[in-house]
Amino acid sequence: MRSPHVVPDPSLPRRVTIYEVGPRDGLQNEETVVPVEVKAEFVRRLLDAGLPVVEATSFVHPAWVPQLADAAELLDVLAADLGDRARDLPVLVPNERGLDRALEKGMRHIAVFGSATDTFARRNLNRGLDEQFSMFAPTVARAREAGLDVRAYVSMCFGDPWEGEVPVDQVVGVGARLLDLGASQLSLGDTIGVGTPGHVTALLDAFNAAGIGDDVLALHAHDTYGQALANTHAALRHGLTTIDASTGGLGGCPYAKSATGNLATEDLVWMLDGLGIEHGVDLEQLVATSLWMAGQLGRPSPSRVVKALGG
Ligand code: HMG
Ligand code: MG
Repeated sequence: MRSPHVVPDPSLPRRVTIYEVGPRDGLQNEETVVPVEVKAEFVRRLLDAGLPVVEATSFVHPAWVPQLADAAELLDVLAADLGDRARDLPVLVPNERGLDRALEKGMRHIAVFGSATDTFARRNLNRGLDEQFSMFAPTVARAREAGLDVRAYVSMCFGDPWEGEVPVDQVVGVGARLLDLGASQLSLGDTIGVGTPGHVTALLDAFNAAGIGDDVLALHAHDTYGQALANTHAALRHGLTTIDASTGGLGGCPYAKSATGNLATEDLVWMLDGLGIEHGVDLEQLVATSLWMAGQLGRPSPSRVVKALGG
């Protein structure tokens, strides 16, 4: 079968926005640096497949993530091809230096990335839990003054490889501070994929109790323990309508021990199709893109749907 039997569930949202992170979260974790033309082709194919949001790259320190050191060049290549549309692709920005680099390219959407735990903040950002906000505050303020939209990630929402369990209230506290700085959306990262559906529901309930609605929340699931799709279903049931995913299931954070691939966009699309939820993405084009990318990377995609449809 090349598409699932459709049985809509009226308790779920009718439409979902898939926030694609493959070119950024996927390629930041590859051992080899993917050539800039291949990255550009990947982004173009994802847009052609109908993905409404494609996070393209990161303006982080090039020595910290050499895989994405070509961010400016990539955006030049994409702008030459896509024109103004390239400026709508979100990019990760950790600090004011990153913002300056994004502004030089005329980008309109940035994403800062905070941590719910002190250890990961130190490992990923070279800042403590509180210190990270001193870095984000001027970055977000200047971005907003310049008219940019700012998304904020919160990492380690469901557990941390160094600190273990992460209290739900601690996650909500970090998320609330990022929204207070001026972020328009919070993406809740299960960076190491340890969350389970009840935990997702409890965290989302806690955000709602703090006055933060499902409309500003997104789930960013990694699939390390095979829970990404179940956790995403719990988030949809709660009322979230933005879900992060990575085509082919690529991904992981080089600074998070035991982080593996993100929820595969193809696996998400198959489930959304079966539930009759609109998303605007062409599954066959995505699968073809993942097969092509697997050829570039020299290994098969971990996505179950790519395996099932790609043979
Ligand atoms: P630092 O070493 O503390 O930086 O790194 P600094 O502020 O002390 O500056 C030191 C030098 O770096 C200065 O240059 C700066 O100009 C330069 P110098 O004056 O010595 O010549 N510099 C930069 N250069 C280029 N671009 C920049 C930049 N910033 C400073 N943006 C820093 C702090 C935040 C920069 C570093 O820790 C970093 O780049 N970290 C990024 C790590 C990363 O990208 N991790 C992966 C993304 S997060 C993720 O994957 C999780 C997520 O998917 C959600 C989830 O799954 O949970 C989002
Ligand atoms: Mg991630």
